Amino acid sequence: MEQASATLDFTRPVALILLGVVIFVEDEAEAHGIVRRLMDALPSGSHLVLSHTITRPDMPDVDAAVAFWNENGTPRLTQRTPEAVTRLFDGLELLQPGVVSCNRWRPDDDTALPAEVAMFGGVARKP
Ligand SMILES: C[S@@+](CC[C@H](N)C(=O)[O-])C[C@H]1O[C@@H](n2cnc3c(N)ncnc32)[C@H](O)[C@@H]1O
Repeated sequence: MEQASATLDFTRPVALILLGVVIFVEDEAEAHGIVRRLMDALPSGSHLVLSHTITRPDMPDVDAAVAFWNENGTPRLTQRTPEAVTRLFDGLELLQPGVVSCNRWRPDDDTALPAEVAMFGGVARKP
C-alpha cells in the first residue's frame, strides 16, 4: 500500500486487476482474504476486475489440461466453479453481465466467438 501510493492516488477510485492471478491461490479462504484485503484498502467507487480458470462437468478437457500442467509445470493452478468465482466478488456490486465466460463479457461482435471458454470473469464496483 505504501509503495503503491507512490503511483496511485488512493483518494480516488482505483481498478484492481486480478486477471489469471487468483488461480495460484489454492485455499478458498486465503483467496477470499486476499481479494478482500486488497479491496478494503481502496475507496468507494473502486472496481475489481477478476478472471479465473473454471471447472465444469461439460468441460472435461480443461480439467485434463490443468492436471497435465500441475504434474509438469509450476506454479500449480487451481480451478474453481463459476459459482465459486462469483463468490470472490462478495460484498461488491457486479456489473452486467455478471461473471461469465470472458469472451461473453460485452463483446463488440460475437458472431465468430466460441460459445464459452474456460476462463470466466467479471467486473464489480465497491459500494
Ligand atoms: C495467467 S498469467 C496472467 C498474466 C496477466 N495478469 C494477464 O492477464 O495477462 C499469470 C502470471 O502470473 C505470473 N506469476 C505466477 N506466479 C508468480 C509469483 N509467485 N510472483 C509473481 N508473478 C507470478 C506468471 O509468470 C504469469 O505471468
